[in-house]
Amino acid sequence: MRYALAPLFCRPWTLNGISPRLIESHYENNYGGALNRLNAISEEIEQFDFGNASDQSLARLKRDETAALNSTLLHELYFASLGGDGRVLPDAVASAITQDFGSVDRWRREFVGMANGITGGSGWVLLTYVPRDGRLINQIASEHDQCIAGGVPVLALDMYEHAYHLEFGANAGAYIAAFMRNIDWSAVKLRYEDAIKVAPPRKLEQKQFADVPSISAEEVREMLKSGAPVQIIDTRPKHYTTKAQDIMEGAVWRDPERLDDWIGTLSKTEPVVTFCVYGFHIGCETASTLRKAGFDARYMSGGHFAWKAIKGPVKLFE
Ligand SMILES: [Fe+2]
Repeated sequence: MRYALAPLFCRPWTLNGISPRLIESHYENNYGGALNRLNAISEEIEQFDFGNASDQSLARLKRDETAALNSTLLHELYFASLGGDGRVLPDAVASAITQDFGSVDRWRREFVGMANGITGGSGWVLLTYVPRDGRLINQIASEHDQCIAGGVPVLALDMYEHAYHLEFGANAGAYIAAFMRNIDWSAVKLRYEDAIKVAPPRKLEQKQFADVPSISAEEVREMLKSGAPVQIIDTRPKHYTTKAQDIMEGAVWRDPERLDDWIGTLSKTEPVVTFCVYGFHIGCETASTLRKAGFDARYMSGGHFAWKAIKGPVKLFE
């Protein structure tokens, strides 16, 4: 694969306090350099001699490829972030930022503070949309390959010295201020609109238990904390629990195969939460059976290990 050069997105002569000379050098030497490096690496990978060359050199090439590709993508985003007046945030962006950072001012202080904080080192400061959580977050990417997995950067500030040294010398603060004065917020808005169309990662689907309500481990923890009455039944299979060392605090273990023996001990006026090892099968089935018998039962999604993963308290299982 050969990566094509993207034309310069911003118009350098329109920028306020960032000179055409700086942008030209940056575009030609650093963006162009990253793209050429990327193409050279990608050619090397295509011609890789799997019979003779080592897996270590393949791994090195693939790491270099990620860094060069991200440097290319982020430089394109950086140039596309400039060209506005930095002041007027379109309503959609202002309200998204206010929702996720408290206010535009707080966002700005965090973003600029992060840039000042890495001055003297290098890296990127990015405003990134994370589809999993449906929110924007500021991040530092110290190397080109440290982007948030699955995140969609919508604004990029280049804090590598090559981005400002030519004109600003060591005065990185003046460069950051100049960058902020030139943000093209209407372009950010369009990228944000594209970003929020990205679907979040798929959630676990359990079609066979679609009609059985579940409850998360965090919700169960809240119930216990608040002292709400709840009956928690650990229904991990007997062959599993003979080896198990711990059990959720507040839960009692009941053999799922002998439900008829213990169903009579449950109260119908208090909710029931069942769970098994990972939350795939037995806990759901037990909840389903209990519901049919008239209990207000739900299964805890993720099971015993979800509880452990949120550091829910456990006790010795005897
Ligand atoms: Fe750069």
